[in-house]
Amino acid sequence: DIKGFTFDLDGVITDTAKFHEQAWHDLATELGVEWSDTLGNQLKGIGRMDSLSMILAAGGKQNQFSDDEKKMFAHKKNTHYVALIQSLTPDDILPGITAFLGEIRAGGFLASIASASKNAPQILKKLEITNYFVGIVDPSTVSHGKPDPEIFVRAGELLNLQPKQIIGIEDASAGVQAIKAAGQTALGVGAATQSAKPHLWVRDTADISLKTIAMKLSSD
Ligand code: BG6
Ligand code: MG
Repeated sequence: DIKGFTFDLDGVITDTAKFHEQAWHDLATELGVEWSDTLGNQLKGIGRMDSLSMILAAGGKQNQFSDDEKKMFAHKKNTHYVALIQSLTPDDILPGITAFLGEIRAGGFLASIASASKNAPQILKKLEITNYFVGIVDPSTVSHGKPDPEIFVRAGELLNLQPKQIIGIEDASAGVQAIKAAGQTALGVGAATQSAKPHLWVRDTADISLKTIAMKLSSD
């Protein structure tokens, strides 16, 4: 039986994915790397330095910069991103998520955060939902990013549950792969997750509820 949920943050709980995309897009343009929606989707769920590497590789510029320069670029992107998220309020929680967190709490389920973002604690605080989660995995202590299962394994450990008792929720293809590899049940949200074949799928966060999940699990 399902007893807990591991949540991705950006693009599942709040639409910060658009701010990451905006900040990376601007940096890519500045570096002379042409942006595409495909590149934008590939970056979803990917950590800061790996995202930068993918952008540089997309423009054939992977060998043009020193490590110090790369650190500076990543820092610049983050400064821009942090400025963009300052305006977040509870109104920026995606449709259906506040109600779902309420159902989780009322039903005695547990939830934790498996986000690659070092800004996750700050975002949860701004959204005023920190206390719905028993814990947040600190991504600076994770050695392999999504699609490696590590961060979802760690988020499952925070719940003190077995993988089979957990549903992981993701809007990124790399994230769905990570959940599946962790042995948890993957709930994919949105078109970008379909290629990774999640066990359960919804078009939109508004479609996430205990009831729809129970229905999808029983028709599985
Ligand atoms: C993930 C986002 O949650 O966190 C990625 O989907 C982002 O887009 C990654 O690159 C790292 O975030 P941050 O805030 O630590 O740069
Ligand atoms: Mg995401």
